[in-house]
Amino acid sequence: MSFDFLQDKDRIFTNVYGFQNWGLKAAQARGDWDKTKDLIALGNDKIIDEIKASGLRGRGGAGFPTGLKWSFMPKEAPKDAKGNPRPSFLVINADESEPGSCKDREIIRHDPHKLIEGALVAGFAMRARAAYIYIRGEYIREAETLQAAVEEAYAAGLLGKNAAKSGYDFDVFVHRGAGAYICGEETAMIESLEGKKGQPRLKPPFPAGAGLYGCPTTVNNVESIAVVPTILRRGASWFNGFGRENNHGTKLFQISGHVDKPCVVEEAMSIPFKDLIEKHCGGITGGWDNLLAVIPGGSSVPLIPAEQIMDAPMDFDGLKDLGSGLGTAAVIVMDKSTDIIQAISRISYFYKHESCGQCTPCREGTGWMWRVMEKMRTGDADIGDIDTLFEVTKQVEGHTICALGDAAAWPIQGLIRHFRPEMERRIRERQGGGSDAMMEAAE
Ligand code: NAI
Ligand code: SF4
Repeated sequence: MSFDFLQDKDRIFTNVYGFQNWGLKAAQARGDWDKTKDLIALGNDKIIDEIKASGLRGRGGAGFPTGLKWSFMPKEAPKDAKGNPRPSFLVINADESEPGSCKDREIIRHDPHKLIEGALVAGFAMRARAAYIYIRGEYIREAETLQAAVEEAYAAGLLGKNAAKSGYDFDVFVHRGAGAYICGEETAMIESLEGKKGQPRLKPPFPAGAGLYGCPTTVNNVESIAVVPTILRRGASWFNGFGRENNHGTKLFQISGHVDKPCVVEEAMSIPFKDLIEKHCGGITGGWDNLLAVIPGGSSVPLIPAEQIMDAPMDFDGLKDLGSGLGTAAVIVMDKSTDIIQAISRISYFYKHESCGQCTPCREGTGWMWRVMEKMRTGDADIGDIDTLFEVTKQVEGHTICALGDAAAWPIQGLIRHFRPEMERRIRERQGGGSDAMMEAAE
C-alpha cells in the first residue's frame, strides 16, 4: 500500500530549514500571531477539547496525550496557607539532550514565534500565569534567538499585560540549563528552575498537583507547544487526519547516521520506515542490503534489526509492537560497518555519566552495565555474562525514581535480544576459540 506523503500545504513548520528569517515580521507573514486573541477567545475548555480531539500526544518522547495532561490543571486556583490564590505555570522542556534528537533546536532556531505564540495559547488554556522555557545550556545561539524573539513579542504587545489584546496577562521567561541530561526529566527540571540540584522527584504527585514552587504546573515539550496555534487555526480534524488511530498528526523526524542525506523533516505520523528514508534521506549508504539496525526514537529506545523495521509504521504503536518506541522520533541508522556492540556500549557510558546518582539501581547499575558492555565490546567477557547482564538490566528497569534507569537498560536488552550471536562470536574469537564457522568446521 502506498503512503500519502505530507504535502507542503500541510506543513506546520514552514521555516524549519531557516530559508526565511526567524523574526517577528517574517513569522507573521507565515501566519504566526494571526488573530491570536481569537484563539484565546475560544475559552479554556474549548481549547483543551480541541487539543484532545486532535489526538496530539506529547512530542518529547513519552507520548502522553497533551489535552488530557492540560485537563489535570485546576480550574480554581488553589490557596496558600493565608488563603491567597497560588499561580499555575507552564514549563516548556527545551532541554533537548536525548542522543540523536535535534528537532526542538530547529524550531527554536528558525520558528521561535510558533513556540512563543503556542506558550501563550497553551498557558491560557491551562490557566497558567507564566511560561518558563528551560533550554539546554549547550544551545547557546538558540537561547539568544529565543530571548530576542521573546523580547520582540513583548515589544509588540503579544506578551505581558493584555497579551495580544486578549485581555489575558502572560509572561514568558527563558531559563538556560547547565548541561545536565537529567534536567530534561520534568521534575528534575522543576528542581533546577527552583535553583536546586537537578534531581528527579518521586511521582506522584505529578506536576499538575505539585510542580514549580509547589504550584500546579504542566511540563510540555517544545514541539508539543509549537504546534498548538496551527491545530487551533486549522481544526482538530485536520491534524487528526494524519497518521492512524491513536497515532495522529504530523511529526518532526530527525534522521542521522548511515543515510545519504541526514535531515530533520516534518512528515505524517505512521510513515513506513523505508518510505521515510527513501523520500527524505536518499536511501541507506551503500544500499538497503547494507542496513544493519535502526534506533528509531533516540538513544533510550531499543534498536530494531534491519529485517524487522523496513515496513514498520513510524509511530508510537508500530514501534512499540516491535519492542521499541517512537521516543523523540530521532532515527539513528546504522549500516553494516557499525560495531553494534561498541555503539550500545557508548550509549551505556552516556547513561552512566548522566545518572544523577540518587537511587541505587541506577547509580550502581549504570556503571556496572557499562563496564560489562565494555567487556562485551572487547570480547573479554564470558558467554554466561550475557545472561547476567540481561538479568541486571531487568533489575534496573522499573526499579528507579525516573526513566533514566529504564533508558539505560533498554538499549542493552535490544542488543542482547537481536545480536546475541554477534556477542557470543566476539567472546569466542577473543578467547581463541575461533568464529562459529570455524568451530562448526572443526566439529
Ligand atoms: P512518563 O511516561 O513518566 O511521563 C510523561 C508525561 O505524562 C509526564 O509529563 C507525566 O507527568 C505525565 N503523566 C504520566 N502519567 C501520569 C498520570 N498518571 N497522571 C498525570 N500525569 C501523568 O515519561 P517521562 O519520564 O516524562 O519521559 C520519558 C521519555 O522521555 C522517554 O521515553 C524518552 O523517549 C524521552 N526523553 C526525551 C528526551 C529529549 O531530549 N527530548 C531526553 C530523555 C528522554
Ligand atoms: Fe537519578 Fe538515575 Fe534515579 Fe533517575 S533513575 S533519579 S537519574 S539515579
